[in-house]
Amino acid sequence: MMITTTAHPLSERSGDALVYFVRERNGKISSCPDRTLNILIKRAQAAGDFSAKTGETLISYPLVQTNSTTPAATTTVRIMVVGLGSDPIDEELLRTVGGNTAQALVKTRATRPGLILPTGLRRSEENLSRHLVEGLILGDYRFHKYQKAQEDDEEKGRGLETIQIHGRDLPGIKKGIRTGLVFAHATCQARDMANEPGNLWTPDQFEEEGRRVAEKYNLTCEVLDRPQMEEMGMGGLLGVSRGSSQPPKLVSLTYRSGKKVPTLLLVGKGLTFDSGGISIKPGEGMADMKYDMCGGAAVLAAMQAIGELQPETLDVVGMIPASENLPGPDALKPGDIITQYNGTTVEVANTDAEGRLILADALAYGIKTYQPDYVIDIATLTGAAIIGLGHHTTALLGNDDTLAEKILKISERCGEPCWRLPLGKEYRKQLKSKVADLKNIGGRPGGTITAACFLEEFVGKTPWVHLDIAGTAWNYTKKSYIPEGPSGVGVRTIIELIRTWAT
Ligand code: BES
Ligand code: MN
Ligand code: ZN
Repeated sequence: MMITTTAHPLSERSGDALVYFVRERNGKISSCPDRTLNILIKRAQAAGDFSAKTGETLISYPLVQTNSTTPAATTTVRIMVVGLGSDPIDEELLRTVGGNTAQALVKTRATRPGLILPTGLRRSEENLSRHLVEGLILGDYRFHKYQKAQEDDEEKGRGLETIQIHGRDLPGIKKGIRTGLVFAHATCQARDMANEPGNLWTPDQFEEEGRRVAEKYNLTCEVLDRPQMEEMGMGGLLGVSRGSSQPPKLVSLTYRSGKKVPTLLLVGKGLTFDSGGISIKPGEGMADMKYDMCGGAAVLAAMQAIGELQPETLDVVGMIPASENLPGPDALKPGDIITQYNGTTVEVANTDAEGRLILADALAYGIKTYQPDYVIDIATLTGAAIIGLGHHTTALLGNDDTLAEKILKISERCGEPCWRLPLGKEYRKQLKSKVADLKNIGGRPGGTITAACFLEEFVGKTPWVHLDIAGTAWNYTKKSYIPEGPSGVGVRTIIELIRTWAT
């Protein structure tokens, strides 16, 4: 999709739809810079069909040009009016309205809409464009790669081709569009990876995509394969992948700003299919476990955005431990003892608690190799996160209040809210093993917390935050800009954190 900006009069545009935004206040609808349209809106309101509620849309097909201030009516087949409601305008509202706009447009045959930025909102046109664009693109997301094209099916329609944004501050709008595009494209990229089925997205694909992104943005890419992991003693990644014929990969991408700045390490769980292993999961819902790589997808997508944005305040390393978890003949068995990269021995009491085993190697290796100042990991780690927080909030845990607070705030702004859960030695006790340094499960109570406690053992004193996206990576809160299936959660929070690091 292409997005452009223009200050040209509407009479010169050639799109196939024109979109106006209106506010609502005490039952009154704000007016548009088009007199005919205002009359039309009043009639729709009187008929009870439109009240400018947030995201509400009204579509009309103007008959004739009725006065000289409405040139658009003669050149545009469709006019759409979108409500901005009466609540204070914030980023999430704009994103939501962007999503509603995309969805309403897609129901028509319009592919080249023009948007008239609303005025008088005490928000820069840069900011308005940024979040509207983000919502438009996220709301227009579709994945039909493996289906024949079906012309008549609106769901599988062509989607939007170009969007023209009309406003005054063209440089500002251009900047806003670019930021919105980077955020949205990265999120869509994460959704695309997650939508790929388990047979077509294996650890090898993480390697391939990692190398592609690195090449494109001049990042360093390092991939550890099975023999190298054996040499290094990565018992977690090796153990989890033993039941599968697909070899594990540890993919690392490094972005260097060239400045003397702190290093942030990102680690994302890239479990490309989680059957549970010998502790096999019930068949019902097992297909969803192709999404067990959403953390890895989020990290890879964030690295692509970082390549685009070239931030100057942070160096960033993105790591994806990638593996399948299958019950093949050589698979880990409950009760097996493995040795992680840092020498810690783990009793694998349940082979379905595999995410922490691969993350532990990646965290210990990443911290030793890159000596980061901060670490964030993101993983579909525990079903308990769904029980605790449902599908609307990501669980956040960590050993550093400042970093945790920062992420809580930013995630809220990005429409990806997190809620912090505690850590502590009482929970840690649940991981005590009689035969090894640690056990990989801590029982049902506080399952999300004990999983994070396990990871904490591998980060040492480095400031670290863990995001458990098991409940939010798919089946996320229904929003206009979040489709069914994978949400791409975490991508925008991570990019915004990096983009605004120094502020
Ligand atoms: N990938 C799952 C967690 C998960 C479950 C994510 C449901 C999304 C939806 C993870 O590997 C897992 O199986 N965790 C177990 C841990 C248990 C065995 C301690 C779980 O949560 O049941
Ligand atoms: Mn599992
Ligand atoms: Zn898993």
